[in-house]
Amino acid sequence: MCGIFAYTGSKNAGPLLLKGLVSLEYRGYDSAGVFMPESGVVRAKGAVAELRKKIPKNFTGRSGIAHLRWATHGEPSEKNAHPHADCGGNIYVAHNGIIENFRELKRALQSKGHTFRSDTDTEVLAHLIEEHMAHTKKFEHAVLTALHEVRGTYGLVAQCKANPDKIVAARMGSPVVLGVGTRERFVASDPSPIIPHTQKVIFLEDGEVAVIMPTSHAIVKLDATKVKRGATTIDWGAEKVKKNGHKHFMLKEIMEGPEVLENTLRGRLVLEKGRAKLGGLESVAKELKKIERFIIVACGTAYYAGLIGEYMLEEYAGIPVEVELGSEFRYRSPVLNQRTAVIAISQSGETADTLAAVREGKKRGALTLGIVNAVGSTIARETDAGVYNHAGPEMGVASTKALISQLEALVLFTLFFGRERQMSLRTGCEIAQELKTIPEKVAVILANHGKIEKLAKKYAYARDFLFIGRKYNYPVALEGAIKLKEVSYIHAEGYASGEMKHGPIAMIDKKFPTVAVVPSDSVYEKNLSNIHELKARGGPVIAIATEGNTEIAKIADDCVYVPKTIEILSPILSVVPLQLFAYYMAHQKGLNPDRPRNLAKSVTVE
Ligand code: M6R
Repeated sequence: MCGIFAYTGSKNAGPLLLKGLVSLEYRGYDSAGVFMPESGVVRAKGAVAELRKKIPKNFTGRSGIAHLRWATHGEPSEKNAHPHADCGGNIYVAHNGIIENFRELKRALQSKGHTFRSDTDTEVLAHLIEEHMAHTKKFEHAVLTALHEVRGTYGLVAQCKANPDKIVAARMGSPVVLGVGTRERFVASDPSPIIPHTQKVIFLEDGEVAVIMPTSHAIVKLDATKVKRGATTIDWGAEKVKKNGHKHFMLKEIMEGPEVLENTLRGRLVLEKGRAKLGGLESVAKELKKIERFIIVACGTAYYAGLIGEYMLEEYAGIPVEVELGSEFRYRSPVLNQRTAVIAISQSGETADTLAAVREGKKRGALTLGIVNAVGSTIARETDAGVYNHAGPEMGVASTKALISQLEALVLFTLFFGRERQMSLRTGCEIAQELKTIPEKVAVILANHGKIEKLAKKYAYARDFLFIGRKYNYPVALEGAIKLKEVSYIHAEGYASGEMKHGPIAMIDKKFPTVAVVPSDSVYEKNLSNIHELKARGGPVIAIATEGNTEIAKIADDCVYVPKTIEILSPILSVVPLQLFAYYMAHQKGLNPDRPRNLAKSVTVE
């Protein structure tokens, strides 16, 4: 949600800043802008391509700050594009987050004679810093004093013309990463644009301000006390943030499924004992023994992963589980205690609602655990313990490879807690053995992508879709619907198969297709009856079924087969054709699935 990128060093900053912005485009693309103290500012409505068109040839310099916007306050326009300036045009700020008290600050600044040029909350920061520059010689002191007056969230970079080498970065609630190169420094909202230059990074914590020069950096807290923190090394290379020959990140990331699943599993399965070894939970081993209840908190696709996790953990570990939307959890006084563990699932580890739920859990005395993909992210750091997905960076706005790795991590949690409690050695071994085969089974589904592409062509006419499933595959139906909606803008609803007759079946006619997720599992017969009900009303049906099921081919209009597996693992397979279907539907409609309108990858505002 908004992307910031900044550079100070000895190279020509212009091309570097634009390249950095391109790799952040999944965070927002309402407008883009760049400021270089030696050349000035350029802003444009739209994404980086629009900005690039406006950059003059002589736009050069050795440092600068750049921004991609996902609009919150003020419409997407050039006027509202960052970086925003003070009255004198000497101070520039690029910001991700929301300044909640901007109205009162703006009124106060206007009464002192400041003139505002945009409708954004961010602009107050530039004017506040300008105000404090009158009382100090040091730019960073003015920034620090200004930050004491703001309420809200920020991940920001600021520069002033008088000190072209210097960048001041600050963080409160929105991520900021510092990249440490040789005689150069970078700042970004996440490591992806930094990785092509250096793998050494420092994650700023809330309430920290960094003063950055090409060959040095210093971090202080808001009260000016010094912070000592060494750089950590990111263990993925630049190739992970490229499309590697695929047209879109979404397709590339779906195709990475088998590799991602191998990575999530690596070193974590103890096959002969039917157990999972989760090093990330060892530090809280004593507390975990006392846990009597789980609350999974997450948003969007990660929430659907949580719903599937509920089926897994309750059936095999015998632990009661509730699954809560991050955005709702803290508004309804949840009853928690030390015997409750709150599990946060998040790809980015920065989703504001999920983070708020983690904090609420902590406040109410619960143990907090994370299933997080982004290493060093806020949720990963703030939870008491947890596991990383190791799915690698996910650049497509639509979560695909992260979801299947979340599901795999939840199976590992199930083995981990199940074998400590009620799960037999035999069951543990059966799940562990089968889990080992899942990556190659996903590869089989992906090899069949041509069939799904043809289906997308056949059903491109549809304006609405219903997705249905039961038990483990009910949340898969919900996920099929969100994926289709977000990348193709086709209206889609996910429903529990058995609920259809309580309402949605009224919508069905011959132009309203249903995707039915019907693997050969314990609820197959019931699902089959629901498909008959749809067919009786003339609705076309695409079935996602288990290889070898010839019966379903006689009833459904189209079938996509997935390899046979055990019920608990079936969502990891059945969701993949739905991801491909959404991708190809977007493609059919000429849409760019990596940049769905109105969306951003990491939702860092509540
Ligand atoms: O980074 P997170 O996993 O916390 O993100 C949660 C949701 O915002 C995310 O899954 C969103 O629903 C995706 N765009 C779905 O594809």
